[in-house]
Amino acid sequence: EKGGWPSFMAKEVSEEPEAVANTVRGRVQDGAVVIPELDGLDELFRDIDRVIITACGTAFYAGMVGKYALEAWARVPVDVELAHEFRYRDPVIGARTLIVSISQSGETMDTLMAVKYAAEQGARTLSICNTQGATIPRESDAVVYTHAGPEVAVASTKAFVAQITALLLLGLHVGRVRETLPADASDDVTGLEALPEKIAQLLDEEQEHVEQLASWMADTRSVLFLGRNVGYPIAMEGALKLKEISYIHAEGFAAGELKHGPIALIEPGQPVFVIVPSPRHSALVHSKVVSNIQEIRARGARVIAVAEEGDAAVLPFADEVIRIPLAGPFLEPVLAVVPLHLFAMGLANAKGLDVDQPRNLAKSVTVE
Ligand code: F6R
Repeated sequence: EKGGWPSFMAKEVSEEPEAVANTVRGRVQDGAVVIPELDGLDELFRDIDRVIITACGTAFYAGMVGKYALEAWARVPVDVELAHEFRYRDPVIGARTLIVSISQSGETMDTLMAVKYAAEQGARTLSICNTQGATIPRESDAVVYTHAGPEVAVASTKAFVAQITALLLLGLHVGRVRETLPADASDDVTGLEALPEKIAQLLDEEQEHVEQLASWMADTRSVLFLGRNVGYPIAMEGALKLKEISYIHAEGFAAGELKHGPIALIEPGQPVFVIVPSPRHSALVHSKVVSNIQEIRARGARVIAVAEEGDAAVLPFADEVIRIPLAGPFLEPVLAVVPLHLFAMGLANAKGLDVDQPRNLAKSVTVE
């Protein structure tokens, strides 16, 4: 039931704070992350020498964020692979490889086949899933449910923020077991608990602004998204969502790739969203993204910066600034994606499209 909302997507975006809260609930004990479902797997987590995250679409982008956090916290090499690519080559995997699959529906055939294949090769499998009792978790050795609640709109929104949250929890859990957590990891645990409130604040402060922006841009033919580090998968997600529900050409890039090709696309008036990382986490990375903004601005791009509150460095170069609350380096993407979900939805609405049922797409892709 839509419960008064104009669309399931609108309802589900409004539920992003709750989705994150439900994913975290019951998984923090005495200031540390303990996922009860993973009880008994300590030896496995100490023993693994490699993690491969596999998923499709939006879930794949969540996996890219997960890679950064898992490597930082659990000090284990992590690859992220599209399930349909992973399945049809001859990957080097074995008993010390942990396969982490991510799927909202738990029924995506491409992802299921990758999990089955990895298990046949002797790898251990863990799934992050939103749908209780679905096929992928049943085929996996362990499961961490996101508990985001049913997602009806075809475009994944609240499930995406819940997937990133589950991956962050997994990273903090495995890092604790492997004794590799940095001293300040407890800040991230507190940060995760505070995240729902920050998403709610962001929705409150920016929803109208972003929707207005989207309605001004209803005739736009192409939108680019740039991000760096964990902002890169967020740029990819922003572009995917826009293609999916507003049928506008959109592309996401790693900001550092600009000069290797995509900057040729920049012409006067080209809208570009830039996910700006916090200067508090790395002044260097922040300054690199600010120079990317200057480079595209100099070529006439219309820059929409998604930047944390108080970041004044973007002001001289951005046409619009969307503000996100302060959060830790791996938590920030959960906030940065919210305005991109709102933007895609706003644009589709401005074009009079059915945001819940985009053409040619199904909620659950159960064929290969
Ligand atoms: C994007 C979207 C798809 C799914 C993908 C995987 O908004 O919904 O890209 O993320 O088809 O689906 P699940 O997570 O069910 O495996």
